[in-house]
Amino acid sequence: PTPEKWQRVDAYLTELLVGHDPGLDQAVAEQNDAGLPAIEVAPVNGKLLHLIARMSGARRVLEIGTLGAYSTIWLARGIPDGGRVVTIEAEPRNAELARANLDRAGVGEKVEIRLGRGADVLPTLEGGEPFDLVFIDADKESNTIYLDWAARLGRPGTVVMVDNTVRGGEVANPATENPQIIGVQRGLEMLGRDPRFDATAIQTLDAKGYDGIAIAIVV
Ligand code: DHB
Ligand code: MG
Repeated sequence: PTPEKWQRVDAYLTELLVGHDPGLDQAVAEQNDAGLPAIEVAPVNGKLLHLIARMSGARRVLEIGTLGAYSTIWLARGIPDGGRVVTIEAEPRNAELARANLDRAGVGEKVEIRLGRGADVLPTLEGGEPFDLVFIDADKESNTIYLDWAARLGRPGTVVMVDNTVRGGEVANPATENPQIIGVQRGLEMLGRDPRFDATAIQTLDAKGYDGIAIAIVV
């Protein structure tokens, strides 16, 4: 399809099935005003995260890569009162903006922002209750490290989702030298081979272009 066609379809689906919400809309506006990249998930995919949280009955959610907390708000709204989202963000300025966006959206009490790089913060989460859902959306070079922690901090049945698994189709280019694409490839290879996971992935075409999301269960 031409970009005009799929952008129209995305706008149509978003209007019909996602709609508008002041907390989410303002989070995006604040993120844009602050000059952060507009790389939050598309509204249809935010809703997907939210629905999967609800469908899986998740109470404890781990997110790696907060940015301005757009996906975090969706996830927090998908878990019951008393549930918790732990979200990891490496950039202090993003974490500050995320905190304001979460509070403004009314989910501040459900969300704990852990400041630092994933590889440093994740080991500090050991020993707590297992996470029911893990959303990986940070530096793609570290996807295998994040998947390993998702399995370790999860339990059989934990849902794991990985953003940006198609990258305009580059994921299927075996000759790529882009370290981010290579990171995505290594992550998908791990999902295919590591006995701790059973997984699939879908290609997505939406407001953010041509990309994809992997969905796995911890076995
Ligand atoms: C990009 C998009 C993302 O969703 C992300 O997590 C990182 C980067 C991008 O388009 O560059
Ligand atoms: Mg992403």
